[in-house]
Amino acid sequence: MLIHYKRKIDYSNIPRHVAIIMDGNGRWAKRRGLPRIEGHRRGAETIERCMDTAIELGINVVSLYAFSTENWSRPKEEINGLWNLLESFFEKKLNTIIEKGVQVRHSGSLKELPVNVQRIITDAVEKSKNNSRIILNFCLNYGGRHEIIHAVNEWLQKKPSQELSLTPEIFESYLYTRGLPDVDLLIRTSGEYRISNFLLWQIAYAELVFMKVLWPDFNEKHLYQAIYEYQHRERRFGGL
Ligand code: FPP
Repeated sequence: MLIHYKRKIDYSNIPRHVAIIMDGNGRWAKRRGLPRIEGHRRGAETIERCMDTAIELGINVVSLYAFSTENWSRPKEEINGLWNLLESFFEKKLNTIIEKGVQVRHSGSLKELPVNVQRIITDAVEKSKNNSRIILNFCLNYGGRHEIIHAVNEWLQKKPSQELSLTPEIFESYLYTRGLPDVDLLIRTSGEYRISNFLLWQIAYAELVFMKVLWPDFNEKHLYQAIYEYQHRERRFGGL
């Protein structure tokens, strides 16, 4: 199956920016009688495999929805488990991430996060800032509506006095994703058909691919399959 997709992909038409809603960790664990955090742990492992495949494909940016502004409503135990996981993920993997040429970026609001998580993210961003093979845009404490409001407020505070209104270009320069291309392909795993407040501005013309696979089971084949589907859509950007 993988060989089949590898042969059929058009390598001259790879999406530049792929955004992923990594859904289904909890269900993956529940089906195995395991605690939910075990699903998240396996989900974190999927990230490394997914980035390797993205590099192989020549994707420029991968945005991952790791924690939304709405995820604070989950039980404290699960939230703390996620922070521990994040800490051990970056402790174990940061050197490899840097060696592979990955530039880590963060989208979202850092200041509400535990201080050690803020430090880990800032450190990963700083240490990998000169890498240019691929960008991993880690969306943590991220919400699309929050990002839009935040951008407008930043503009109001920082704008030159002669700048009387926003243009799309000015607005984009205040987003967390400033400088990144628009999302070409949005993938959501686990069979749910929702956007859940992810990159609302950036997905304006994205192709949406919903897959049944639960995130911990997502592998190389699924990414190739999503790219294949993307390449068979007709992107018109509002034209004919
Ligand atoms: C959605 O699954 C997933 C999340 C809310 C968290 C995503 C986090 C990871 C993949 C791991 C975190 C990354 C690092 C680097 C630590 P869900 O829990 O909503 O699943 P469910 O819908 O089946 O309950």
